Amino acid sequence: MNKLLNEKLVAQPHNLQDWHKGYLSQPNEHEYWIDEIEGEIPKSLQGTLFRNGPGLLDIHGAPVHHPFDGDGMVCAISFREGRAHFRNRFVRTEGFVKEREAGKILYRGVFGTQKPGGWLNNAFDFKFKNIANTNVIYWGGKLLALWEAAEPYRLDPSTLETIGIDLLDGVLEPGDAFAAHPWVDPSCHLDDGAPVLVNFALKVGLSTTINIYEFNLEGKLLRRHAHIVPGFCFIHDFAITPNYCIFFQNPVTFEPLSFALGWKGAGQCVKFQPNKPTRIVAIPRTPPYKEVKVWEAQSGFVFHHVNAFESEDKIHIDSICYDSLPEVEPGADYKETNFEALAPGQLWRFTLNLKEGSVERQMVESHCCEFPAIHPDKVGRPYRYLFMGAAHNSQENAPLQAILKLDLHTQERQLWSFAPQGYVSEPIFVPQPNALREDEGWILTMVYDSSRHRSQVAILDGRDLDRGPIAVLHLKHHIPYGLHGSWTNQCFVS
Ligand SMILES: [Fe+2]
Repeated sequence: MNKLLNEKLVAQPHNLQDWHKGYLSQPNEHEYWIDEIEGEIPKSLQGTLFRNGPGLLDIHGAPVHHPFDGDGMVCAISFREGRAHFRNRFVRTEGFVKEREAGKILYRGVFGTQKPGGWLNNAFDFKFKNIANTNVIYWGGKLLALWEAAEPYRLDPSTLETIGIDLLDGVLEPGDAFAAHPWVDPSCHLDDGAPVLVNFALKVGLSTTINIYEFNLEGKLLRRHAHIVPGFCFIHDFAITPNYCIFFQNPVTFEPLSFALGWKGAGQCVKFQPNKPTRIVAIPRTPPYKEVKVWEAQSGFVFHHVNAFESEDKIHIDSICYDSLPEVEPGADYKETNFEALAPGQLWRFTLNLKEGSVERQMVESHCCEFPAIHPDKVGRPYRYLFMGAAHNSQENAPLQAILKLDLHTQERQLWSFAPQGYVSEPIFVPQPNALREDEGWILTMVYDSSRHRSQVAILDGRDLDRGPIAVLHLKHHIPYGLHGSWTNQCFVS
């Protein structure tokens, strides 16, 4: 297996200094046809890969405390007739524009970035900056940059110019949240089998309201409902099946005093409760939405779910689970992460019994992993293949340098590693036209090449990662490690 070969060949797969360089800001905006290509771009790969992530890790030289506080920068890689075009633009949020004019940090960040002037200058300032940095989707004819604590920002898909805050035709009120992890149900039984976009928004407090929205292909609201969950929630992602939206209420509390007094960012006041269970809440997608089900599972922290599906009287959910929430301390530098001291993200399957109310969990993959991807037609359905970013070695917590493929039927694994100098981002699975097999498609991932301080877009064959990349597209510069993105078959470059 390639995995074993790679592990043997690379004695020291990662180097923290190399890894750090992928967190340098990219203040420049580019657009060009990519002309340095190894291999060949498949001609039938036609469409656009949109990516989002923090583009600025400092504001005029003052570092942000955590990458999650960095201003959103969207990249578009358009594929057309065997060629690829690159473009990146910052989302011109109100905060981005004001800080650029001022030349300094004007806002507190959720993950610990503070305004200059010490805690006195931060105390009782509850304004935050919508940084629009987490995901980007093309739906209903709109390109939307998403950040879970505020409204979407709409961009022009051809130029990536910022159009402005978008309230989804009046669905949202100014100031409303809208999560960064929508799912597309490929065939909704409530809508004659049409695809629908499902997303949620939290209103947190002593109890939390979960708002759920479903939109048709034109972006019109089909259904909306709200549910109150006791207690504080920190929910970043959810899962869907044809009949349920499923949320993991991680066992955390919020201690607001340090935030109010200007000592910590709000995200630093979230405390993991190892002795409390994770509550799993399944909310029906079918009116009247009343039969909400709740299970309690062993403590753990989940950012991302891979997929969920129903079988008879059970719901199965595959999730990347951590033993606890990695905390962001005020004085700590994220670049000094001690990987060995932290528990890795690992893939678990949770099986929820709808009749008996019991829950079982089983580890599927112990290899350190994050950022899962599946075939888009399998969302909410039984599925066979999944792809994830993974550490190079199977036994350690480390930066993501490889793409790991799992066959859930045979337990076969394939891993393609970009170690020692490459660091991967979230893979995206793009089905081949007229494909017959679930894994017949391409894996697209942005790779930071530390040897040249530049980034690449790698294209892998979903059927056979062991082949190595079909094509590597070298950008002329680096792109800081991104968060999430999406694929559309539409191409916006002429
Ligand atoms: Fe996420």
